[in-house]
Amino acid sequence: MNENEKVIIFDTTLRDGEQSPGASMNAAEKMRIAVQLEKLGVDVLEAGFPAASEGDFEAVSSIAGRLKNTEVAALARTSKKDIDRAWGAIRNAAKPRIHTFIATSDIHMDYKLKMTRDEVVKKAVEAVKYARSFTDNIEFSAEDASRSDPDFLCRVFEAVIEAGAATINIPDTVGYAIPQEFANLVKYVTAHTPNIHKAIVSIHCHNDLGLATANTLAAICAGARQAEVTINGIGERAGNTSLEEIVMALHTRPNYIPLSTNINTRQIYPTSRLVSMITGIIVQPNKAIVGANAFAHEAGIHQDGMLKNPMTYEIMNPDTIGLGAGKLVLGKHSGRHALRAHLKDLGYDLSGEELNIIFKKFKELADKKKIIVDEDFEAIVTEGILRTADIFRLEYLHVISGTTVLPMASVKLTINGLSVQGAGYGNGPIDAAFNTIAKLTGTGSKLLRFSVSALTGGTDAQGEVTVRLNEDGLIALGRGADPDIMTASAKAYINGLNRLEYLKTHPVVSPEAL
Ligand code: KIV
Ligand code: ZN
Repeated sequence: MNENEKVIIFDTTLRDGEQSPGASMNAAEKMRIAVQLEKLGVDVLEAGFPAASEGDFEAVSSIAGRLKNTEVAALARTSKKDIDRAWGAIRNAAKPRIHTFIATSDIHMDYKLKMTRDEVVKKAVEAVKYARSFTDNIEFSAEDASRSDPDFLCRVFEAVIEAGAATINIPDTVGYAIPQEFANLVKYVTAHTPNIHKAIVSIHCHNDLGLATANTLAAICAGARQAEVTINGIGERAGNTSLEEIVMALHTRPNYIPLSTNINTRQIYPTSRLVSMITGIIVQPNKAIVGANAFAHEAGIHQDGMLKNPMTYEIMNPDTIGLGAGKLVLGKHSGRHALRAHLKDLGYDLSGEELNIIFKKFKELADKKKIIVDEDFEAIVTEGILRTADIFRLEYLHVISGTTVLPMASVKLTINGLSVQGAGYGNGPIDAAFNTIAKLTGTGSKLLRFSVSALTGGTDAQGEVTVRLNEDGLIALGRGADPDIMTASAKAYINGLNRLEYLKTHPVVSPEAL
């Protein structure tokens, strides 16, 4: 390994990440994440799968038009139609990339594609050649590579590199590989593909056995120089390799793996928060790097060592990932200018009208909470701006509960702009509020999960509530934040119902499932 070498970070939070059950995002939410990923410094951002739907096409196309430094990739199967859609969506990008793929394992070729090996090679080559008529920047992925015959894999890679692919990707699509085995596959492909020096070797791992990070690192040690990852490891089933784990492993262990990335590590924590906030997928407390407990020391013996020298038990400094940084702070008396400037620092360049909405919400919050920190701003902007297309909106909520009364809620909503109100009872105040909202919206969904936590420290912290809903197999997550946890709960439920409505018209289509 050469000390100056870099590992290219290819982020697929908006494509593979969106395939996490319930993680579907609207166009404004995707744009917000894309802007943050550029700030984080990802080299390539896979913005979506434009052939899946008009909505995906539009989202990819507006991201492509906005980003200046980051390559924007669009996924396509090997059909001309898919490649045309992909190119149509990214043609205005500063740095466009077409990412085309076909399965190479016998099980996928026999049962899914019903194609012979020769047919798959032909199709892959035709796709790469066709994509090359638009751009030189072509990535080819051999889906289910880790369960493919290694010699066939080399044959496919040799042919697509010959056809003009600049990056060849080895996915562990079903999360089946074991680190040493996966490293050996990368070495085998590198040694037995004669023209491999003309392409970058990439890997893309899924986490079904909890080995995605280990497999990715093993592959990097074996010579791969592009890692495909997602923020917080979100993705299909058990997820994908997590960006923060790979980046921080390389950052923390240069003595063992002398390779670096272009990531601004101080943006890791803010990006993790933003993705969790927008998708509603909570980061497990013991998640490496970005979990709430990742830098918390409970045991007395650890705390004693930490006081004497933090390096006794802490291998990374929390500041390095942006934890605890930028805790500034606006309060009740801060004006519009200060708010605009601070939101700009956070990556939100708001129009005058948007600023008015956020300023009003900021003042309302500042009346209830002395200090407003970045997490609060993210929550206000997520609720105030990114979800403008909501069908259901909460106008007011009034709850009565206590030890001697039957819990009761009165709720006023707007549904497509029209006001409706009603009241209902329940086992507790949340049950009463949810029953009433369910009655007013006529939802047929079931509540699968409800969880509440505090957005920051302090008793005046905003409560953050997440719900998971299921309606006829469609899964949606909802999130709400408010200093009053009853209001946060109602907002989360209503957000989940809005997401279900959005999903009915914008289903997330997995490219592998087509
Ligand atoms: O897991 C996979 O194989 C994929 C490909 C489309 C790269 O996501
Ligand atoms: Zn994948």
